[in-house]
Amino acid sequence: MTEIIDGNAVAAEIRDELTDAIETLADAGSRPGLATVLMGEDPASQTYVNMKQRDCEEVGIEGVHVEVDGDAPAEELFDAIDDLNADPDVHGYLVQSPVPDHIDYRDVIRRIDPGKDVDGFHPENVGRLVAGDARFRPCTPHGVQKLLESAGIELEGADVTIVGRSDIVGKPLANLLIQKAEDGNATVTICHSRTDDLAAKTRSADIVVAACGVPELIDGSMIGDDAVVIDVGVNRVDADNEKGYELVGDVEFESAKEKASAITPVPGGVGPMTRAMLLYNTVKAASIQED
Ligand code: GUN
Repeated sequence: MTEIIDGNAVAAEIRDELTDAIETLADAGSRPGLATVLMGEDPASQTYVNMKQRDCEEVGIEGVHVEVDGDAPAEELFDAIDDLNADPDVHGYLVQSPVPDHIDYRDVIRRIDPGKDVDGFHPENVGRLVAGDARFRPCTPHGVQKLLESAGIELEGADVTIVGRSDIVGKPLANLLIQKAEDGNATVTICHSRTDDLAAKTRSADIVVAACGVPELIDGSMIGDDAVVIDVGVNRVDADNEKGYELVGDVEFESAKEKASAITPVPGGVGPMTRAMLLYNTVKAASIQED
């Protein structure tokens, strides 16, 4: 029987642990604060920040939401960032991407105080992660690590193929999994849109992580017998329903499930873990700043 790895259940456990840690911090006079910044009106981004704010409320983090007009000059967004950097009640924050075309997201990330960069995207935090001294592990890779750990999947000596080389998922996850650490020591292959014979690389892997943003690219024929499949993809595809769309992963779930020993669903797999690890990083930021 293929195990369906339940991200909602693991995320709920993490939120419970965090709720206790937050109470302890609050008793000592410090309530962790997380701000979300949204520039423009991208509907998916609005949904994501709403969910992040709801998560804050659930665990006792003080949530603040900042909106910047999508047509505003970059300076307006930078002013909002400077205010958050200076605000002692905001321990961590993120600027939701994508940002409008006239804004360079790299300038945005570089302006964030690295000690408040709970996404872990600032070059200083990227450098620390690569050096094996991560302060904030980016939320999705960290969530994938936690899911693998909770499912009891051995990484030591495992061949992991990651499909996707993004700065948010593929690159940091590869760096984490190769590290000489309890949750590392894997052998990692990173594939992308120019990879030759992708199927051969996924088929030979013990663990396949799909994070390329191509709906259902990876099907059962690309999965080795009893491999573990982690689907990071969240793709909106047109559907004949009330919303007019449905969410599908980067993996064709039904055929991949036939081959895999364990697999994450979409939704309900990696997504809730990403959100939980953002809360985790916020509590960590508050603990460091209040220390
Ligand atoms: N857009 C999609 N994923 C993310 C994320 O993890 N952080 C931010 N800030 N924006 C995103």
